Amino acid sequence: MSWYTGEQTYDTILALAFGLVLIVALSSAFVVAPYGRFASGRYGLSLNPRLGWFLMELPATLTFVVVFFLGRNSLQTVPLIFLAMWLIHYGNRGFAFPFLIRTPAGSRSSFSLMVVASGWLVTALHGYLNAAYIADLGSHYTSAWLTDPRFLIGLVVYYGALLGNIHSDAILRGLRTHAEIAEGQKVYRIPKGGLFRWVSNPSYLTELVAWAGFALCTWSLGSLFVLLISCANLIPRAAATHRWYRERFEDYPAERKILIPFIW
Ligand SMILES: NC(=O)c1ccc[n+]([C@@H]2O[C@H](COP(=O)([O-])OP(=O)(O)OC[C@H]3O[C@@H](n4cnc5c(N)ncnc54)[C@H](OP(=O)(O)O)[C@@H]3O)[C@@H](O)[C@H]2O)c1
Repeated sequence: MSWYTGEQTYDTILALAFGLVLIVALSSAFVVAPYGRFASGRYGLSLNPRLGWFLMELPATLTFVVVFFLGRNSLQTVPLIFLAMWLIHYGNRGFAFPFLIRTPAGSRSSFSLMVVASGWLVTALHGYLNAAYIADLGSHYTSAWLTDPRFLIGLVVYYGALLGNIHSDAILRGLRTHAEIAEGQKVYRIPKGGLFRWVSNPSYLTELVAWAGFALCTWSLGSLFVLLISCANLIPRAAATHRWYRERFEDYPAERKILIPFIW
């Protein structure tokens, strides 16, 4: 056991992390995180969204990789599979997604530095809690785990949802024309097709299902933390986004739900 995975250290950090989930859930109910369509000058300095996303997500990759390779089990099969999942996930969210963002030329910075700073705490905790457990503390990641139904179902759920997430993000990215981007016009349109047929926030829905799949697949409290803090962030934001669309577009599809098809 290493200093950073000593049971007391890990459990204390885990308990603080669950405390943070409560704080985020309470604050998100009152304040929508100031970036994108909800950007606001009231919260101090803002960054270009590409830089903001990249910086905010970076600790998830860095912390995970460093802590993972300090772990005693880092070269075993199951931990290596989770490492690959992590690198694919954050290769998309932390590197490809920010690089592909289509910000209108010359538009003002809209990604609050406050969001980046609070995001660092979450992404660093996320990396640490998962890597320390997967590569050091977890005792069930033997070769038998490869045929456990939780691992297999979680893997299918995770990758199915990740594909839906990438597709939904791509639909949003395609809503602004090249001319609008070049002329610096920040235009919003009603997204259509894919999972947008059923809900206003398919990126958030698939993000949450993907983390639920990862939690099932790893069967750990560290992955439950990321699922819960993502719920705390994204459920209120999904409701605010749905309201925003309905107030802004008279022809917004009335049958479209907020986050859960046919239900909410
Ligand atoms: N795990 C977590 O806690 C967590 C937290 C946040 C986000 N995420 C994930 O990160 C991804 C992005 O999230 P987000 O909150 O940035 O999503 P978003 O508000 O939908 O924005 C995504 C991109 O699409 C553009 N866009 C959105 N709606 C548009 C419309 N109607 N017309 C034209 N362009 C539009 C945005 O431009 P503008 O920036 O100019 O509005 C932005 O560049 C999602 O997959 C989400 O699940 C995860």
